[in-house]
This record gives sequence, structure tokens and C-alpha cells, in this order.
Amino acid sequence: MKKHVRRAAIAVAATLAISGAGAGVLAATQSSDEEALTPARVPADRSIERKVNKLVHRMTLQEKLEQLTLLPDFMVTDEEVRKGLGSALSLTDPAKIRHYQEIAVNESRLHIPILFAVDTIHGFRTIFPEPLGEAASFDPNVGETEAHFGARESSAVGLKQTYAPMVDVSHEPRWGRISEGSGEDPYLGSVMAAAKVKGFQGNDYSAPDKVAASVKHFAAYGEPEGGRDYNTTDMSIRRLWDFYLPPFKAAVDAGADTAMCSFNSLNGSPGCGNRYLMTDILKNRWGFDGFVESDWAAVAEMRACPPKNPDSGDCGHGVAADGPDAAARALNAGMDSEMTSTFIRDFGQQLLAQGRISMRRIDDAVRRILRVKFRAGLFEHPFAPYTPDQAEAQMLKPDAVAAARNAGSRSMVLLKNDGDVLPLDASKKTAVIGPLADDQHDMLGPWWGVGRDQDAVSVLQGIKNQSTGTVSYAQGCKLSNDDEVVAGDDPEGCGSDAGFADAVAAASAADQVVLTVGETREMGGEAEARSNIDLPGKQEDLIRAIVATGKPVAVVLFNNRPLALENVFKDAPAWLEAWFPGVQAGNSVADVVFGKVNPGGKLPASFPVRVGQVPIYYNHEPTGRPCSPTFRWNARYRDLLTCEPLLPFGYGLSYTTFKVDNLQLSRHSVSRRGSVRVSMDVTNTGKRKGDDVAQLYIHDPVASLSQPVRRLRGFQRVTLNPGEKQTVTFTLDRSDFGFYDNFGRFVVEPGTIDVFAGDSSTADLTDSFTVTW
Ligand code: BGC
Repeated sequence: MKKHVRRAAIAVAATLAISGAGAGVLAATQSSDEEALTPARVPADRSIERKVNKLVHRMTLQEKLEQLTLLPDFMVTDEEVRKGLGSALSLTDPAKIRHYQEIAVNESRLHIPILFAVDTIHGFRTIFPEPLGEAASFDPNVGETEAHFGARESSAVGLKQTYAPMVDVSHEPRWGRISEGSGEDPYLGSVMAAAKVKGFQGNDYSAPDKVAASVKHFAAYGEPEGGRDYNTTDMSIRRLWDFYLPPFKAAVDAGADTAMCSFNSLNGSPGCGNRYLMTDILKNRWGFDGFVESDWAAVAEMRACPPKNPDSGDCGHGVAADGPDAAARALNAGMDSEMTSTFIRDFGQQLLAQGRISMRRIDDAVRRILRVKFRAGLFEHPFAPYTPDQAEAQMLKPDAVAAARNAGSRSMVLLKNDGDVLPLDASKKTAVIGPLADDQHDMLGPWWGVGRDQDAVSVLQGIKNQSTGTVSYAQGCKLSNDDEVVAGDDPEGCGSDAGFADAVAAASAADQVVLTVGETREMGGEAEARSNIDLPGKQEDLIRAIVATGKPVAVVLFNNRPLALENVFKDAPAWLEAWFPGVQAGNSVADVVFGKVNPGGKLPASFPVRVGQVPIYYNHEPTGRPCSPTFRWNARYRDLLTCEPLLPFGYGLSYTTFKVDNLQLSRHSVSRRGSVRVSMDVTNTGKRKGDDVAQLYIHDPVASLSQPVRRLRGFQRVTLNPGEKQTVTFTLDRSDFGFYDNFGRFVVEPGTIDVFAGDSSTADLTDSFTVTW
């Protein structure tokens, strides 16, 4: 659970008269091509609609306003519940949840149950790899399984909604929350988003072990200027549609019934006051009939801050004059449930009397919330399927723990393995070194639900569990777990090399070294941006000192984001990207390090050479002066002799080798409504069983709007024995070769589409086909 510092609400002088219009007066209609691609939504269940209507007719205005209120754990009281509180977040104690639910269903006038929600982002008690790591598995089953167990454990204590999946595409490794999403690619992000919704909700989230998914943060929260959390986002409409909306659409199409609007402004309009996003797109165009909750106090933050006290909290955007204004703008824009601030509840009567909000809109919002409560089965089964005493026994069950271990190793990416340092020999003497080696706390990553440090297996323990030789340990240096840093402090730790001598001695006395380096979990997640994304403190020096012993060294990285490893990547022979693997971290690492599991993950985001290249991503657009490092007048950096990232999207090695060849297209000319089958052969050319990810990219070389140099449109992770070959086939249609224009219209244009196939974004097998009209 991420802790919240509740900032005092403040009153703001009502002097500003600012338009709350959405991102623009842009067309919100679907083109026929897009319509055809949108799956028909299941019609609303009539009996539920009847029940919702009946209830709405019986509600007083005040009861309706209470339904639109969503309070955090520390604001929930018996009295609030008796009045008819709609929803609550972050309560996790099953006894408390039951207590409040009993009051809601027995003592509130209309007996409407509360919807209890929590952030089960990568596990509730059984913590799985951070989502960026899960995406690195290029395996939707990993996301679905994590969500399945997250839902099972959350619902066991009485929770019925989760604020996940977080699907913000991001090109910003400085942004700490890149760890919570699937990285830089909209297609990979869409596949993972849909898989997670399926895992949380199943076919019917009224099932006792399922929860409603809330897709977030709507929208474009992943691209804050400068990478600083909560900061401004300004982008073209086609960018928004092509890059940032697809995972939301995928989640909604997969059945996500709730969504969270975002803190950031998009083209001047904050997410929770953005009519274009919430009403025009999500509700009208995509047919979403669930509800949108605000992010934490995001309604209050729409107000301007008082000029003399700009840091006073819960204010800032300056698109609302005061609390009533913020409430009216948010509700009118399409937000339905207000988290933490209570302006809709407090000012609703007054706003209605003044004609600034309508009863019709209030009823619509109430209906959406009740609809989700009915669909969640809360009226029939308001309580958890277990008594509070039994709930604990549902946590950390063996099947969930085994799945977390598997997810951990499937998420790992082998970045470098010169001289086949990895896998190490479990019978030899192993030194486990580094600030993250004897560490349970950080392994849980940026969200940990109700996970506990002591649940986690450290790398040291994991290596001990599997080693048949001796295992020694030295920390080298200590990283900072402080999340309340003050300017001038050493915010990152590992500032001293005093422990290096011991570490070098341990390495020298061993046959092989596992060297754990990276970030702490406090360096990522919400509100944690870094202006430098290299290895914190003196860890680069630690790597060099250990490698200088001449022993085989495998560096294992734990981190929240792509790191800039320019100065040190060449210095160690083997690098394994482990992300934060969760509760089974040490066992997953040992599985890979000793070769029980052959790593097959791929990078879900580019690793820059250095931070100055950011944003750098594989699916950028071409320019009139394509980057060349060796001559002038183009898009180069004069002080960097490459145009490439250090490690590209989709990249990852294995303990075996693969060949991808025989690219075949079923046709070279296709009508706009037709499809093309594309196949490629993947062969294991090495001596071990292993996994590769077949990847299919396309490029539209001549379009009315310049198109990305490559776009991922298909991938499949395959497991092959030595010598084995598998043909992998994908189908491309207009959903792949079309794109959005700057009016938010989906267009398909005639012309050539280039195809690239391989096992990374630098795939070089190529062919093309023509789209005809
Ligand atoms: C975060 C959301 C989260 C919410 C509730 C906010 O600060 O931005 O992602 O769901 O808190 O915990």
C-alpha cells in the first residue's frame, strides 16, 4: 500500500472564470472503419437496469450525493456509512470491512452496500513482479494469472474493486510510475491490459473470487513533462489516440467496468474535468456504461491555489474557482465518483438549485455506480465469502506463491552474457554481493498491497536454497529506503565505498559472483521521479571492483525503470534484468541464475545510453533529417556517437540461440477490408531448451500523417527444444494498418505497408504488401 499524505483542503477565492471545456471541440464520432473494429458491447442486463431504476426513484438527493462519494480508510466512520456512503478505498482489514458493510446493509435507510476498493496492482498479499516486469514476459498469461490471484486474495477480505490495471504508456524512464505499467508500446500494453482485466473479473465479477477492474489513469498520465509525476501533458490528438488510448480501449473491450480519471492536465484540461476523454470518448464513443472515479483529491486539485500560498495543497490546475466550481466541472465532464475530496456531496444541493448541475446527470452517475454494485453481486452477497478469521488462510496459498515464482523468472531479461557466464554452476562456491542481496523489503516493488517484507525471499536466501556449494555474502554498500528526502541529503545511498574491501574479499574467495545492484523500491512508483537514471551512488564502482577480481560475475539488476548504463554496461560480462520480482524474488532469481529456467523475457521499454536521450523509443516518427551520428544537419546529439538506445525495445537474450526466418505473406495486395496472414519460423539453434518471442512490426512509409518507423502488431512467446522449429502466424487487417488523424478519426489509406519480423524491434526480415481501395 502506498502511503498518502493528506494535504489540507483549502478555500480559494472565487475570482477565476475559466472554461472547463474538454481537450477540444473535436469530432467524437467513429469512422466506419473504426466502428467495424469495435466489438459489440453486451447489452445491459434488463433486470439489473430495472432494479437500479427502482432504487434511484426511492433515493433522496442527499442519498444520491452520498453514493457519489468515495472516502479513504481514515475518513470512513460509522456515521458516514449510516448516511449511505457510496464507496471506500484502502480498507484492508476484513473485520473492519465487515463492520462497515453490516452498518451499510442493516442501518442505512436504503440498505445499499458499500463498494470497497484497493490498489491490487501486482498482487494483494502474494506480490508478483512489478507490472513493467510482467510486460517484459511478453506473456499475457503472466498478467492474467497475477490478476487472478490478486482478485482472489482481495475479494477474500471483502474488497470488490481494484484500481488496476494501470495501463499508462510511457516514454519517460525518469517517471517513477513507469514501473506500474507495461512500458512504451501501445500494442503490448493493450494485450497486457486485456489479460489483466480478464484475470480480475473473469466472465462475471460477481463470482466470490473476482473483483471489478478499474483501468487507469485516464488519460495520457504517462507522459508528464520532464518525467515529473503529476506534471502537464500536452500532445497532439493523433498521438493521444495512436499511443495512449489503445490500452484503455482494450481494457474496456475486455469488460473493465470502472475507470479512474487522471491527475494530469491534457492539453490544458485536467483528467477529472475532461469532457472529451470521459464523456465523448469513454462513455459515448466506446459505450462504457460503468463509472469513473476521480484520482485522489483530483477534483479539489482543479482549483487554483491562493496566490500567497501556492503550496497549500489540493489545488493547482486553476480550471475551477472554488470547491463548488470544481464539483460542477468534474460532474458535468463525466466523473461519477469523487475520491477523498467531497465537493459534489457538500455542494451538490446548492449547485443543483443554481442550475449548474442537473438531476439528470446526478442520476446518471448514481445509476452507473449502482449498476456496478449489482453486477458485482453486492446486493445478494454484500460480505466477503470468508469470515474475517478465515480470510488470512486465503493469503499466500501455495498455488499463488508458485505462480508468483514462475512470473518472476518469466519476467527476467538476459541483457548480456559474454563468455556464457550464466548460468552459474550450483555446485560451486558462490559469493552473493551487493546492496539488494540480503534484502526482502525492496523485492516487493512499488505497490505491495498488504504484502509484508518477511514474506519475500531475498536473493541471498534464494541462492542458498538452490546452491549445493557454499554461499558467502557481502553487502558492499547500502542504498537509501528513505522516501522523504530533503534537498541536500544523499537521497540515493551507496555513497561510501567503505564496504567494498569486504565485498572484493568475498568475491576473491569464491568461484563465481552474483552481484545485485539497482534501485530501491522507494525510488520508483508514485511521486518518485529521478533526474538521473543511472545506478545510484557508487554502485558502478562496486561493479568494477568486483569484476576486477577476475571471477565470473553475473550482475542482477533490480529497478523501477529503464536505467542508463552507459558507463558500466561494458564492464561486466553478464547482466540479468530482474525488475522487482515480488514475494518469490530470490527463488525466481536462483531459478534463472542456476539455469533451471532459461530466461526469455524482452525489454518492454528502451534503455537509453544516457538520460539526455530521453524520450527515446522504438516507435518514433521519421524526420526530414533522420539521425546520423557522424555528420551535421540532422537530428543527432553532437556529444553522443550513436542515435540508438543502449538496448532497444523487444530485446533480450537466452542461454540458447534462435534463428527467425522464412517470412511469408499470404498475399501482397489486400483490400482495405481484407486481411493478410504473416508467418515466420522460429528455430532453436542452440543446445538448451529455451523461449523466444516472435515479433511482428509494420511501417506505413507514405501516409497523410507521418507514421512511426515501426509499430509492433503481433508477438508470441514460444518454447523450443534444441533444433526444434515453430511457425508463428499473425493476421493483419485494417485495425493494424489504419491510424488516427488529428480529429480523432480512424483512417485507412491505400498504399504500401512494410512488414518486419524477428525477435526484437530491430528485426530485419522484411517484406511488404499494398492496401487497395
Ligand atoms: C494514485 C492512484 C491510486 C489512488 C488510490 C493515487 O494517489 O495516483 O493510482 O489508485 O491514489 O490509492
